[in-house]
Amino acid sequence: MSDVLELVDVSVVRDGRALVEDVSWSVKEGERWAILGPNGAGKTTLLNVASSYLYPSSGTARILGDQLGKVDVFDLRPRIGMAGIAMAEKLPKRQTVLQTVLTAAYGMTATWHERYDAVDEDRARAFLDRLGMTEYLDRTFGTLSEGERKRTLIARAMMTDPELLLLDEPAAGLDLGGREDLVRRLGRLARDAYAPSMIMVTHHVEEIPPGFTHVLMIRQGKVLAAGPVEMELTSRNLSHCFGLPLVVERVGDRYTAQGLPLS
Ligand SMILES: Nc1ncnc2c1ncn2[C@@H]1O[C@H](COP(=O)(O)OP(=O)(O)OP(=O)(O)O)[C@@H](O)[C@H]1O
Ligand SMILES: [Mg+2]
Repeated sequence: MSDVLELVDVSVVRDGRALVEDVSWSVKEGERWAILGPNGAGKTTLLNVASSYLYPSSGTARILGDQLGKVDVFDLRPRIGMAGIAMAEKLPKRQTVLQTVLTAAYGMTATWHERYDAVDEDRARAFLDRLGMTEYLDRTFGTLSEGERKRTLIARAMMTDPELLLLDEPAAGLDLGGREDLVRRLGRLARDAYAPSMIMVTHHVEEIPPGFTHVLMIRQGKVLAAGPVEMELTSRNLSHCFGLPLVVERVGDRYTAQGLPLS
């Protein structure tokens, strides 16, 4: 299987501080990765490298077979779908949900004419339907709840038929029902053989969708553990990662973690 992402000794340095330090990590086709780590660990920084929006200060990053710095990122970017908070802020609030997803097909954040291919519109509707957004097609993006906005962003990220899908905390801010609904939908996507390779950042093991195959744990810019979920998602690794004693348990095809009671 070919590498979707291959980072070798990647560091990102700002103001003399390494936000990400000597990260070597590879993601193969078909793998679905969850990135776990505390606030400020460097998770979003790593996704920004993977999305080709941030160049490493040192080391090499190959994305979908092309090395960052040697490839025209404008050819690369349409092959990568990214859903995160930064994107939500760039999108016009008055645009409808359908338009918000449709504009992704044209690589822009605002509508520039009203005529889209019927094929694109059908695709946009289908992605929104998969994410349970059919009732909201004509609502403006600015009026959506946090959860509805997250689901719209994921549909939008799927629109260019990406080979790599990057999700930065897709379940943050959702209520319990919204989280469970999203985790289920992402789980369905993760198990779809035709779905893109996926990398999802999260703070909570409860949010790792079934079907996710690998986990990367990062703390203070350094990788602590990387590999198959069943091998690496251990109490020991998680405790080390978050800096307190934690017990992780598998419940069916999901995970849960809690701190040990204070003695
Ligand atoms: N442009 C920048 N200049 C200086 N420091 C930065 C810059 N961007 C990010 N940082 C710092 O780098 C560290 C890692 O940031 P990053 O956003 O990758 O963390 P994160 O793991 O995504 O955290 P969170 O869980 O809070 O989203 C943080 O301490 C942040 O303040
Ligand atoms: Mg972040």
